[in-house]
Amino acid sequence: MTVKQPIVLKDLPTDLDQTRLPQHIAVIMDGNGRWAKRRGLPRIMGHQRGVDTLKDLLRCCRDWGIPALTAYAFSTENWGRPLEEVEFLMTLFERVLRRELQEMMTENVRIRFVGALDVLPPSLQLEIYRSMEDTENNTGVQFTVATNYGGRQEIVQSCRAIAQQVKQGLLNLDDINETLFENFLYTKGIPDPDLLIRTSGEMRLSNFLLWQLAYAEIYVTQTLWPDFDRHILRDALLNYQQRERRFGKVGKS
Ligand code: IPE
Ligand code: IPE
Ligand code: MG
Repeated sequence: MTVKQPIVLKDLPTDLDQTRLPQHIAVIMDGNGRWAKRRGLPRIMGHQRGVDTLKDLLRCCRDWGIPALTAYAFSTENWGRPLEEVEFLMTLFERVLRRELQEMMTENVRIRFVGALDVLPPSLQLEIYRSMEDTENNTGVQFTVATNYGGRQEIVQSCRAIAQQVKQGLLNLDDINETLFENFLYTKGIPDPDLLIRTSGEMRLSNFLLWQLAYAEIYVTQTLWPDFDRHILRDALLNYQQRERRFGKVGKS
């Protein structure tokens, strides 16, 4: 077990280079179930606790000057979980959104949801669209939540939409390039993440942002999501700042 330092990292830690921070962090919030199990609690308690972790990460992005955060909340594959857990999560999302909207306004956060939103429970959709509309002009942290999100599903729906436009004569085959394709993704207008953090030690993407993560740096921590905090974020950022992002080119050293 790592011993946590008794300092409150509100301001950017001095060992981090402010000029080389990622401009967009994506996070796979994993390990809620294991966190609860280790404590003899039902899995849902891990999800419940995970909300506080996400709130603090969002605040930390604001405090440290990281302009964009994307969090994976529910995958297209997560429907395969026990009904009780799925229903708890849907209700949790709705409850948290309703509760946090005012604070997001005060904090100047812009929230967006990516994923197949139209099949989510209608009462949740209502909160989702309300929060997106209300925070639309906020200029603080750009916060994206991937809900009923699947990278493959996103790519397929983009292809369909493009094919439809070609069929209707609105687009030519020659118009299709990476820039155009990106405009058909859920993440249209949001820059690609520079850093992907996954908690709980799993070394896979689990269908998250397959297109957008093409050149992201990946940091995996053993820490379970409910235990993730600013100290671990600092570790991830320190590690990130030691990397050389070559983008397929030849390195400096
Ligand atoms: C991630 O934690 C949260 C969601 C997928 C909604 P898990 O629920 O996957 O936790 P583990 O991986 O089973 O521990
Ligand atoms: C990925 O975690 C999805 C979310 C964090 C929302 P999972 O726990 O569903 O992924 P796998 O099953 O370990 O790949
Ligand atoms: Mg998991």
